[in-house]
Amino acid sequence: MKLCKYILAAAISVSGMCATAEVLPTPQVTGGMPVMDAMNKRMSSRDIDPDQAVTKQDLSNMLWAAWGITHDGKHTVGTAMNRQELTVYVITPTEISRYNPVDGTLTVVVKGDFREVAGQQEFAKQAPINLAFVVDTDKQKSTEYQGYTVGAASQNVYLYCAANGLKTVVRGMFDHDKLPQVMQLPSNERVVLVQSVGH
Ligand SMILES: Cc1cc2nc3c(=O)[nH]c(=O)nc-3n(C[C@H](O)[C@H](O)[C@H](O)COP(=O)(O)O)c2cc1C
Repeated sequence: MKLCKYILAAAISVSGMCATAEVLPTPQVTGGMPVMDAMNKRMSSRDIDPDQAVTKQDLSNMLWAAWGITHDGKHTVGTAMNRQELTVYVITPTEISRYNPVDGTLTVVVKGDFREVAGQQEFAKQAPINLAFVVDTDKQKSTEYQGYTVGAASQNVYLYCAANGLKTVVRGMFDHDKLPQVMQLPSNERVVLVQSVGH
């Protein structure tokens, strides 16, 4: 009986761990559409289908495009003085998670549907994926440089989407007061932009 209880407790604790740290599929970091073609196809789209989910493979690939680790151990995006101030969060209909580029995992920071806070436009409230670009203002104090970092990461997501039949638009329009609160960000972390993605 005691052994059963122990096994049950262990199972609950393991399933709890799995629920908070999801391992994404390995990102596909070679091949794809030539970069010139992707740039030519890049555009903002807002007519995102609320009912068509983004696959985990696409999610993993676009997160890698935004802020993955490259051949030299740095990131897909350069940062002033290599401060690496960016963190990318994923906002879905069920939770908000933090992307860890080192091991390709998503850690849930809060459960629930917070898309209304992440976007005041109708399409954004219904998009299956909204990425939030968050900077650590202690690591990089210049808002100008923070903007360059986020702009480059967002552009990589645009190019990934253009090359892979996904729709996207980057947005400055989100609830700038409430989103950091629901994401439980410390005072030194700032949400710069949100980017909606879907089909
Ligand atoms: C910094 C920034 C903020 C933006 N914010 C919004 C936004 O809040 N909502 C929106 O629908 N589009 C937003 N956009 C998308 C622009 O409207 C779009 O890039 C522009 O109309 C040009 O269209 P294109 O991206 O298809 O070339 C933003 C773009 C940038 C670069």
